[in-house]
Amino acid sequence: MRILVVDDDDIVTEILENVLAQFGHQAISARSGREALELMRSGTYRLVVLDWEMEGMSGIELCRHIRQRYSCGYVYIIMLTVRRGTENIVEGLNAGADDFISKPFEPQELCVRIRAGERILSLDSRELTIFSLAKLAESRDQETGAHLERIREYCRIIAGHLSRREKYRNQVDGDYVQLIYMTSPLHDIGKVGIPDRILLKPGALTPEEFEIMKQHSTIGSKTLDAAVAVHPEAKFLCMARDIAHSHHERFDGSGYPDGLAGENIPLCGRIVALADVYDALTTKRVYKNAFSHEKARDIILEDTGSHFDPDIVRAFLENENRFVKIREKYMAREEFEATSLLQSQARFIPELLTVPEFSPKQEEVLVGAAGGSNVI
Ligand SMILES: [Fe+2]
Ligand SMILES: [Fe+2]
Repeated sequence: MRILVVDDDDIVTEILENVLAQFGHQAISARSGREALELMRSGTYRLVVLDWEMEGMSGIELCRHIRQRYSCGYVYIIMLTVRRGTENIVEGLNAGADDFISKPFEPQELCVRIRAGERILSLDSRELTIFSLAKLAESRDQETGAHLERIREYCRIIAGHLSRREKYRNQVDGDYVQLIYMTSPLHDIGKVGIPDRILLKPGALTPEEFEIMKQHSTIGSKTLDAAVAVHPEAKFLCMARDIAHSHHERFDGSGYPDGLAGENIPLCGRIVALADVYDALTTKRVYKNAFSHEKARDIILEDTGSHFDPDIVRAFLENENRFVKIREKYMAREEFEATSLLQSQARFIPELLTVPEFSPKQEEVLVGAAGGSNVI
């Protein structure tokens, strides 16, 4: 890994360069905060080891500068210091440092701390990669803007609730909650394999077209399964595959692709099933207007035990207000974005400011087309 070392003491930088090279890293040194910032402009340094006490710009100031300038792509900062005590640690953390090493340092300790930093950085980029992959798949779809953002938040709430229940103690822990938050956005990744004429069709699908549409679950899981074969240790790939495969299974065995029932359906698939349907019901789709939370809850309650796992429904009911808050948060954001876009376009086409409205009869037809908790 390329590491930027910042210290105004030549002897220290030389020692650091040698130690880091021994552990397989490539260290580049800067003798001052200014020089460090100049080197960082290239964007190739994501891990910085810096000295607290330096002439001119101190390590603390440099830390603050780095945090202010680099908001995309996290930079991990380790501070070298002779200072000890809570007060100093708090000051360093407040400035944005991630870790501290006391001077004089032990090479082994430095290496271990750098490895911890690498782990954090890999998490950061892994999450970003997964999410951008999911976004790419979604860009071909007609689902509403923040569907993926909302669904992962709903899944986290449900999984968090299950983690506190005795029955799920051994299955759902903090790691599981984080994994489902990361991987649930990939549930419909297989839609990339569905032809446009079906995926983008504005009206209802024919039975033949629906059969093709249903294949998105197996296309997604097969793609992810190929990745699992190469990296069987990657838990997030396994969960992403299970979710892609099973999010349309139903608790009574009437879903697809395998017609699995009850607890034979992976838990992550059962969780995403409810989150996906709740989001589809409560947001506007081409075939329906957005239902109120209450109406969505009634539909979900009606389908408890047939479509949904009763335990997951319970988790939903006990956290209803959190679901509503998330929905409102994104609704407000989307309205704001839509209005800003409309206003900027209306400067050129004034008619855009008059929004067409549906008559009550038309709304009835649109709502009828939604058909309960049937969501693709
Ligand atoms: Fe789906
Ligand atoms: Fe979805």
